[in-house]
Amino acid sequence: MNSALIIGGGRGIGRALTEGLLSRTDTRNVVASCRSQSSLESLQAIDDERLQGVHLDVTDDASIDAMASRLGEDLPVPNLVIHAAGILHEDDIEPEKSLRQCRRDAMRRLFEVNSIGPLLVAQAVIPRMARKARGHYAVLSAMVGSIEDNRLGGWYSYRASKAALNQLLRTAAIECRRTHGELCLTAIHPGTTDTDLSAPFQSNVKPGKLYTPEQSAGRILDVVLGGSPEDSGRFVNWDGNPIAW
Ligand SMILES: NC(=O)c1ccc[n+]([C@@H]2O[C@H](COP(=O)([O-])OP(=O)(O)OC[C@H]3O[C@@H](n4cnc5c(N)ncnc54)[C@H](OP(=O)(O)O)[C@@H]3O)[C@@H](O)[C@H]2O)c1
Repeated sequence: MNSALIIGGGRGIGRALTEGLLSRTDTRNVVASCRSQSSLESLQAIDDERLQGVHLDVTDDASIDAMASRLGEDLPVPNLVIHAAGILHEDDIEPEKSLRQCRRDAMRRLFEVNSIGPLLVAQAVIPRMARKARGHYAVLSAMVGSIEDNRLGGWYSYRASKAALNQLLRTAAIECRRTHGELCLTAIHPGTTDTDLSAPFQSNVKPGKLYTPEQSAGRILDVVLGGSPEDSGRFVNWDGNPIAW
């Protein structure tokens, strides 16, 4: 039976993960965190007493601490965490096509949301997870975070923020072998998925390679839950195959 915590669980792939978990009879409960009030309110459309929505902005330490300190109190301790929050574009921030377009403020924002935020959420949540029971902690990374696979260039900040995320997850996995020996940490590429994040770039996607959030969520759950502690620190594709760092 899984008690799940989905960070960014109100929209996009995170929303499909929340709903996918609730459709399973082996799910005991789901805590879905949202940054925006609109996503939090949209969770009310899901009529399931196993679901609790909470506010969390990964760039705000106080909101991370406020959520994490409730785990084991009025929120269940999770044995499955999936960090599905992330950005590619936001307000006037767009993925850079050239070196000339790189901006300090945009790069900082991408690293705040996609790299530092996930690490600080893990820092707050993992110590509250069971030390000796099987558990899973996954972050949604991206194939474009692979340095070896980078043949097209562009998207400087997003690529680098996901490469940093992968390194941070790998480092945490090594430490967790000592503190949480039954925990499997996974960085997973969800596949190109039809969400607000990918919407402006879908014309470049090959036919048949754009997946629904429900398809991606189902595959992510299969791969993440199929991981064992020996696999911890892996970077994998949605089909479970390893991705070169
Ligand atoms: N879609 C794809 O094709 C694709 C491909 C590769 C990797 N990914 C990765 O998969 C993850 C999910 O992407 P998606 O396609 O589902 O994107 P999305 O539909 O745009 O959803 C983004 C999610 O991130 C949350 N979020 C953004 N900024 C946040 C912050 N500061 N604090 C807390 N939550 C924040 C949003 O919360 P609110 O709803 O509250 O705003 C929302 O739940 C991302 O990390 C993305 O890089 C996606």
